[in-house]
Amino acid sequence: MSHLKEIKRVTTHSLLSMKKGGEKISMLTAYDYSMATIIDDAGIDIILVGDSASNVMAGHETTLPITLNHMIYHGASVVKAINRAMVVVDLPFGTYQSNPLEALNSAVRIMKESGAHAVKLEGGKEVKKSIERIVKAGIPVMGHLGLMPQSIYKFGTYTVRARKEEERKKLLRDAQLLQELGCFAVVLEKIPADLAKEVSEILEIPTIGIGAGPSTDGQVLVIHDMLGITKEFNPRFLRRYLNLYDDIKGAVKNYISDVKSQDFPNEKEQY
Ligand code: KIV
Repeated sequence: MSHLKEIKRVTTHSLLSMKKGGEKISMLTAYDYSMATIIDDAGIDIILVGDSASNVMAGHETTLPITLNHMIYHGASVVKAINRAMVVVDLPFGTYQSNPLEALNSAVRIMKESGAHAVKLEGGKEVKKSIERIVKAGIPVMGHLGLMPQSIYKFGTYTVRARKEEERKKLLRDAQLLQELGCFAVVLEKIPADLAKEVSEILEIPTIGIGAGPSTDGQVLVIHDMLGITKEFNPRFLRRYLNLYDDIKGAVKNYISDVKSQDFPNEKEQY
């Protein structure tokens, strides 16, 4: 018998228990094996393989260009690293909106080829049939309301969503619909804190906020933003825990200088 302590994995059920017990859920993005190893080891609850990979990994201006194959590649790299966290992979733009069967096929490919535990997709009523079809196949779905970056060309800006009464009502309706359809959680991005509080109180499933105030059941940030690898992105909601851009740049400058001056490698750094 193994003496190793069994690690309890995070599941849709444990997330529900966390909400019921008042324990906040921690979620961060990751897109590769090395970063996922560190944040899983640190004890993160959920790793989101977000389509923000399109921005921070591939350098695109929006999340629209990233493909299903790219998401599967990132997802599989993250899954290899984890012992405890739940891994959720974003369904990229254009792989679930047109018809429910395509949505199901996209979700099945992610689950089979990456080994992830759940998928995330953006939208409410508009993608109802797609969510229904995926959930029916036994695949856990995380919803995403508020600012939905895949619809950026419809709105034209990344400003706070659902400030107007009509939009607030629609978001509340959509949130309830996502729960009825069987979503196990919902991301609320960049909406007023009082609305996020209302949604979180109404729903039984957990809400995970980004720029949605303190009352959601969990929080999510893009790892490159919270570690300060990205420099120009400075929304009010972002807390930077490191300034890795400057730290990495400084280390690389030191390395260049050591190579040029022939300080590196020294006698101990050779065979
Ligand atoms: O793609 C992503 O990183 C996301 C988070 C911002 C929630 O969807």
